[in-house]
Amino acid sequence: MYTLLFFILATLTIAKDLWSSIPVTNYSNIIRETYLLGNGKLGAMPFGAPGEEKIVLNIDSLWAGGPFSANNYTGGNPTDERYPHLPKIREWIFQNTTGNVTQLLGNGDNYGTYQVMGNLSISHNVSVNPTSYERRLNLTSGVYYTKYSDLAGSKYTTAVFCSYPDQVCIYHLSSSATLPDISIKLENQLVNDTLIQSSCGDGYVRLRGITQVGPPDGMRYEGMARVTRSSSLSLKCCERQPGTLIVLSTSGQRSVTVVVGAGTNYDQTKGNARDDFSFRGEDPETYIQNIAQGAASRDFQDLHDSHIADYQTLAGTFTLELPDPRDSSKEETSLLFDRYRSSQGDPFVESLLFDYSRHLLISSSRQNSLPANLQGRWNSELDAAWSADYHANINIQMNYWGAEQTGLGDIQDGLWRYMQDTWVTRGSETARLLYGAPGWVTHSEMNIFGHTGMKNDAQWANYPASAAWMMQHVADHFAYSQDVAWLLTAGYPLLKGVVQFWLSQLQEDGYWNDGTLVVNPCNSPEHGPTTFGCTHYQQVLHQMFANALTLGPIASESDFAFLQNISTSLDRLDKGLRFTSWGGLQEWKLPEEQMYDEENNTHRHLSQLWGWYPGVSLVSPSHHFLSGYTNVTIQDAVATSLYSRGTGNGPDANAGWAKVWRSACWARLNNTERAYFELRYAVEQNFVGNGLSMYSGKNPPFQIDANLGFSGAVLSMLVVDIEAVVSGQVRNVVLGPAIPKSWGRGMVKGLRLRGGGIVGFEWNNDGLVTTVANDVEGVRLLDKSGKALFGR
Ligand SMILES: *[C@@H]1O[C@H](CO)[C@@H](O)[C@H](O)[C@H]1NC(C)=O
Ligand SMILES: *[C@@H]1O[C@H](CO)[C@@H](O)[C@H](O)[C@H]1NC(C)=O
Ligand SMILES: *[C@@H]1O[C@H](CO)[C@@H](O)[C@H](O)[C@H]1NC(C)=O
Ligand SMILES: *[C@@H]1O[C@H](CO)[C@@H](O)[C@H](O)[C@H]1NC(C)=O
Ligand SMILES: *[C@@H]1O[C@H](CO)[C@@H](O)[C@H](O)[C@H]1NC(C)=O
Ligand SMILES: *[C@@H]1O[C@H](CO)[C@@H](O)[C@H](O)[C@H]1NC(C)=O
Ligand SMILES: *[C@@H]1O[C@H](CO)[C@@H](O)[C@H](O)[C@H]1NC(C)=O
Ligand SMILES: *[C@@H]1O[C@H](CO)[C@@H](O)[C@H](O)[C@H]1NC(C)=O
Ligand SMILES: *[C@@H]1O[C@H](CO)[C@@H](O)[C@H](O)[C@H]1NC(C)=O
Ligand SMILES: *[C@@H]1O[C@H](CO)[C@@H](O)[C@H](O)[C@H]1NC(C)=O
Ligand SMILES: *[C@@H]1O[C@H](CO)[C@@H](O)[C@H](O)[C@H]1NC(C)=O
Ligand SMILES: *[C@@H]1O[C@H](CO)[C@@H](O)[C@H](O)[C@H]1NC(C)=O
Repeated sequence: MYTLLFFILATLTIAKDLWSSIPVTNYSNIIRETYLLGNGKLGAMPFGAPGEEKIVLNIDSLWAGGPFSANNYTGGNPTDERYPHLPKIREWIFQNTTGNVTQLLGNGDNYGTYQVMGNLSISHNVSVNPTSYERRLNLTSGVYYTKYSDLAGSKYTTAVFCSYPDQVCIYHLSSSATLPDISIKLENQLVNDTLIQSSCGDGYVRLRGITQVGPPDGMRYEGMARVTRSSSLSLKCCERQPGTLIVLSTSGQRSVTVVVGAGTNYDQTKGNARDDFSFRGEDPETYIQNIAQGAASRDFQDLHDSHIADYQTLAGTFTLELPDPRDSSKEETSLLFDRYRSSQGDPFVESLLFDYSRHLLISSSRQNSLPANLQGRWNSELDAAWSADYHANINIQMNYWGAEQTGLGDIQDGLWRYMQDTWVTRGSETARLLYGAPGWVTHSEMNIFGHTGMKNDAQWANYPASAAWMMQHVADHFAYSQDVAWLLTAGYPLLKGVVQFWLSQLQEDGYWNDGTLVVNPCNSPEHGPTTFGCTHYQQVLHQMFANALTLGPIASESDFAFLQNISTSLDRLDKGLRFTSWGGLQEWKLPEEQMYDEENNTHRHLSQLWGWYPGVSLVSPSHHFLSGYTNVTIQDAVATSLYSRGTGNGPDANAGWAKVWRSACWARLNNTERAYFELRYAVEQNFVGNGLSMYSGKNPPFQIDANLGFSGAVLSMLVVDIEAVVSGQVRNVVLGPAIPKSWGRGMVKGLRLRGGGIVGFEWNNDGLVTTVANDVEGVRLLDKSGKALFGR
């Protein structure tokens, strides 16, 4: 074992903040200009000119739809059994090669949408010196600041952050002179029926709303903003503007702090048959009052300090330092994106987006929150694009690409609980009704109300492999954390249910009659018709079964017939590796000319490359896998497929996630030039001046997957860690497979490995120069040329 071999990593630390000298004054542009804050449950988007600031507030569970829209909501399931149709559907497909699943469809009504909660508005009169303005999101502390001066020279500072320890978002205003009157309110201009109240005596404003007037009663949501009472303040309520609280200048106050708590009566633990899938919990009123009161009794410094301490335990666990050859850290952030296209890349921007990626994950997904949705946590509308839901055929998965390796594995607790409480419960019913199966299943689009049925039969909804894909995250969480207690109580039960489902669904191939087991029906994500033997499904199941065989014994599985069944099924499973005439990988088992396997099909998804990245079934040399990492035949086919699939800007979509995925695949091929090209191309094409990625080129909607997947792509350029942890065996980890020349001299610290180890390393133009490793017993660290580091 070697621990701490070298310990002289250079610190070139450059502050990586997002900043601007221009306030966000055009509200219709907010998503392209604001900097995002959150504590998992709450999201905040500050905007507005000095003295007219507002913060758009989001709550993770504020959704219209589901049982809050209809008492007979079924999570998309039919009310009767549909699986009796399956034998005919399968027979039809095996004979006719393609078919359809319309007979499995349930009722997709009342799917619902994620909704905005409202604005916190804080205003005061000030004549601003326009050249004095600055807003900045500090990525070391997770605090957003603005500063400006008035014409008389008084200086003002505001700070905004969302605190996990205190479960509120906080706004603080301070001035070098006595503050003017400050008006504070909560509003939701988009709905009519909100109750808005203020109390001067208690120093609060409160907003209470409901997503629909019953029956059934819609979801209740409530927000309360309170002025902290750390020193004497005079407050009054403005008669002309009900719901507004005025902090009077007469008290001579130089600072004021407002805390805002918000919540709903959604209760994820009520999403099961016992509770009639009601998802209905207690009225949030008392909880919000307590939260807001508790936070308001603390002074700003305490709130600030506990937030920063919490934030840094997460953000501070990992460091990526890249050079700043263009002095970009001194430049306004939006200008960096303007000039990025012509710059052939800017390492500063790339490391900024990496840090922002981690900030966004920490801010939108915590132990007690729902997982990050399509927009993370941030949406200013009542009807969000694609409902801001959970698309599970790449998007929610990509959201978590950066978690394990950068020390954020534990914040995924909310993700596991979301699956346990909403997917397993309703998904067991879906498994039974649609497939006559044990275990559980989900399709591609999920809300927070257990929508596990097939929303419709479109290519993107007809996707029962989503839960099986998520089982990669479950297996990875154990690989990185080695947390056996978690595996026993959470990870393995999730995995077992999905494995049970799929064991019962495999069919002996009735088209080729080659004795293999295949999935029928299947639809390769968002591509081609409903058919059988889709490569993607076969790869995903291959990996899941292999993982179950590894994890079952660790989880003390005592059902040996079950393990034996997995083993037998895995042996017979078609593993989803087939070559096209032009040298790529086939996306389907049918002859390429019958499908869409022609060269230069530039579809956005890379489903047939799943086993290459993010999966490992094609790459890993571990038992049961295909060892493609060092196999030239497979490497060449992956590269050929990637060239053929284009740059992620085809006629079907110019989305950021498509490029970030391509980048990660290229990195695993050691192809630095292509990996870096795709990373840069994503930034050029999809990232706007506040560092957020848009779905259609630079046009909204905002979709967070490319932002969160960005760190995954960068990590794949920094390390290849694909082999299973097997005690007693030495496995290879390659450091720096695809570090671009322009990243000149840089370093990484806190990189987690499977098995629980942590490494750091530094490089320059000659390659890796120093490496620090902790707890990496059983790991052989290699550099890109295959040379063992430390001469081992
Ligand atoms: C505000 O932004 C929208 C959307 O980008 C744009 O169409 C509009 O012209 C802008 N308005 C002003 C006043 O700049
Ligand atoms: C729920 O009830 C409505 C109105 O009676 C009906 O149209 C709808 O089909 C029902 N939904 C389900 C899933 O049964
Ligand atoms: C869908 O498949 C079923 C058999 O499973 C068949 O009866 C039906 O005609 C097909 N519908 C279409 C539109 O192809
Ligand atoms: C194949 O498709 C034809 C219609 O094109 C249909 O008549 C036939 O029943 C299908 N085969 C099976 C086995 O379902
Ligand atoms: C700002 O000044 C205007 C005009 O004097 C007044 O109507 C308004 O109430 C003031 N706003 C605040 C927040 O004090
Ligand atoms: C950002 O926050 C950190 C931690 O609180 C602090 O040390 C640093 O000075 C801040 N950066 C700026 C530019 O204010
Ligand atoms: C928030 O404020 C903006 C700008 O004033 C307004 O257009 C928007 O409707 C508000 N949002 C809500 C939910 O009230
Ligand atoms: C609010 O009320 C107005 C007038 O009754 C109506 O036109 C509008 O649709 C309502 N808006 C919402 C969001 O309910
Ligand atoms: C494996 O389990 C499935 C589902 O219970 C069952 O249909 C299948 O026959 C079993 N296979 C073997 C080889 O035991
Ligand atoms: C695919 O695209 C490449 C690059 O543009 C081109 O060289 C090749 O001829 C194309 N192949 C086909 C079959 O269109
Ligand atoms: C590489 O992989 C292919 C496809 O699985 C296999 O046929 C071949 O034997 C492998 N080559 C080596 C050298 O292992
Ligand atoms: C990438 O580098 C690793 C380590 O040297 C090597 O094992 C692997 O075969 C390389 N892959 C390609 C495509 O060159």
